Parts: sequence; structure tokens; C-alpha cells
Amino acid sequence: MTSPIAASPDPRLLFPALARGFAEHFGTGATPRVFFAPGRVNLMGAHLDYNGGPVLPTAVDRGTLILAAPRPGRRVRLACLREGEGLEVDLERLPMARTGAWSDYPLGVLREVLELARARGCLDRTGGLDLYFGGNLPVGAGLSSSASICVGTALALDRTWGLDLAPMDRVHAALRAERGFVGVQCGIMDPYAVGLARPEHLLWLDCKDAAYEHLPLDPTAFSIAVADSGVRRELAAGEFNRRVAECDQAFGRLAPHAPDAICLRDVPWDVFLEHRADLEPVLARRVEHVLREVERTFAARSALLAGDIVGFGRLIQAAHGSLRDLYEVSCRELDRIVEDALACSGVFGARLTGAGFGGCAVILVRKGAEEELAERLTRGFHATFGREVPLWFFRGDEGPRELEV
Ligand code: GLA
Repeated sequence: MTSPIAASPDPRLLFPALARGFAEHFGTGATPRVFFAPGRVNLMGAHLDYNGGPVLPTAVDRGTLILAAPRPGRRVRLACLREGEGLEVDLERLPMARTGAWSDYPLGVLREVLELARARGCLDRTGGLDLYFGGNLPVGAGLSSSASICVGTALALDRTWGLDLAPMDRVHAALRAERGFVGVQCGIMDPYAVGLARPEHLLWLDCKDAAYEHLPLDPTAFSIAVADSGVRRELAAGEFNRRVAECDQAFGRLAPHAPDAICLRDVPWDVFLEHRADLEPVLARRVEHVLREVERTFAARSALLAGDIVGFGRLIQAAHGSLRDLYEVSCRELDRIVEDALACSGVFGARLTGAGFGGCAVILVRKGAEEELAERLTRGFHATFGREVPLWFFRGDEGPRELEV
């Protein structure tokens, strides 16, 4: 069995393959500009963003690369290294409906950025483009490949058209694209985490009022690992929207008893306890997760600021149990990874990250204990599922940017 530890390659190393793909697909000699946007992991505050709660994500050093070159006229061509299917659209007649293909994401952003250009009176700066996508972030694995592609597209369009948008304009264009055109009822966490990334920091984001702050991480205290369960659920978007709907429904039932609450996160414990029996058991489980996760996330912030990594890790661990039992978004593979990780003496905490239903787990491990963790995860996972579990330790990332290649 090979060691599953992999370092993330510099995203610029992906450029030659993408440049070849770009030239072959579009058949032009144009020299594209290159843009990069990272993915993210969330350490605390699972399924809280759309409930108005706090979250604690950070960007990872893997993400999406976008090659962009202007072309005459007003047609935009989109293509991708991973998928054969490309798409050509006319800026004057952009498609109104999604198709379910990967191109829905950049297309949704194209619509939003064009709208911004129109609203600011600089439509004349927009024009034909060739856009080619690739990257090293596993897709549908809870690392926000969708926000990475959306925020990256917004940056590529902004820079190649010279629109001079603010980072927050791009973050919101990405968010509107995903909620509107793509149709996932996601909260604000992912595009904020990608768009506001800072290395060696977690982003403390209160999703009720979008107030944020960067909390420093001590890189000498621990490493952060991501282990990929390899499980991808086609139904994930549907299940995710169902959780959002369940929380909306529960809030609708509790809100009359909590007049000051503007989102589920605001519902006081005693109100929930008093009316718990009136809720269907499944709704009560969802609310309990949300209210407890809010408390845990505030406690995690205090632990982090106090340098209490053991305490921080315990909260991460408790979050996984809650996601498994109350929110019901884990799976056997993720539970196995978390269980094996926690059996290592150097691990402070482990939990699934992202929406769940498969995807990745995030693990906080003491410096020097990385090999022990890798060995134990490899052995345990292989014994049960007959395959390896990709694991990598990341450095964090400085956020969306143009790359010099
Ligand atoms: C997905 C969504 C996020 C967030 C997480 C769960 O990644 O895109 O907005 O809700 O799930 O915390």
C-alpha cells in the first residue's frame, strides 16, 4: 500500500496541460491570462450559514484554474479539461435555463457579471471570450468546487473585461449565480470563504449579518488534513435543499413563539424545548443540531483565541456526532474516517466538512503525528472498503488571483 499523503502541487503546474487543452479546444493561437480561485474547508458551523449562524471556514491550496482570452464579437465559448462537452453562447442571448451540466456555474456567473456591467454603464467593455476550466479540487467532495469555479469566473470576467469590480461584488455575483441560475439554496459561507481567503487564518463569518473577521491559526500548533471518502451522491443537491426546507419549516413553526427571532439560529433554547413535542421528530432533530452547533461554534472561537487546541478539537468531534445523528448527513465511509482518525493519539478532532452525504472529512492533527494518522486511516479504510483514502495536508491559500505563468 502506498502512503496516501500527498502534497498539493503548485496550481501553476497545472498550466501546461490546460494551455494545451485551451489551444486544442478553441483552435486559436491566443495567449490566455490565467486565474485561480481556491476551494475551502469548514471547521465549525456545519449547516449554519442558511440558518443565520456563525461559521469557521478556511481556504485550501487546491482550486480552479481559468484560462481566459478575448475574441472578436460577442460570443463566449466555455470548455473544461475534465468534461468533453463545451458550450458556446451569445452575450446578447444568454440561455435562460440551466441544463444540469458543469457549464451552468460559469454561465450563471456570466449572466450576473454582465448584469453588473449593464447596471454600471460599462457594457461596452464586455465582449467575446474563450474560457477554459481545470483544477485540482475534487468535485462534489464538500470542498466547495462550485464556489471556487464561480468566484474564479467572476474574477476572470472582471479582469479580462476591465470592469474594476470590488471583491465583494464578485463574491455576490457568484452567490446569486449559484442560488439563482444553478438552483442550489446555499448560504453565504462558500463564496465568502473563497473570496476572502487569507493564509493561516480561519474566517469567522456571522451569516446573520455577514460580519466577518480573520482569526489567526498557529501553523506550528497543528496540521489540517483533508481525507476524501470517495463517496459522491448524485442526490446531494436535492438532499441539501431538503435540509434547507426542513429548517425553514421548523423556523416557521417556532417563530410565532420567538417574536425577536429572524432566523432559526435566534430561536432561544427554552422556546425550542417548550415546543419540541409539537414538531415532527425529524424537524426537532434538525433544530437541535442547529442550536447546539451555534453554541459549539462560539465555544470553538473562544477556544481558538485562547490557544486551546484540545478544546477546539473536542468541539469538532462533537460536531461530527451531531451531523451523523441529528442532521443525518454522514455516511459509513465518513464515520469510519472520523473514528480511525480519533483513535490516533495526535488527533485533536475530526468531522465531515461541507454539506456531507459523502465527500471529505477534516482532521486536526498535532505536528509530527501526520504519518501515524495516514497509516491508521489507510489500514482502517482499506480493511473495510477495499480501497485507499486520499489524504492531504494543506497550507491554506491567499485567495482568488491572477497567476503569472
Ligand atoms: C454546502 C453549502 C454551504 C453550507 C454547507 C454546510 O457546502 O454550499 O452553503 O450550507 O453545505 O455547512
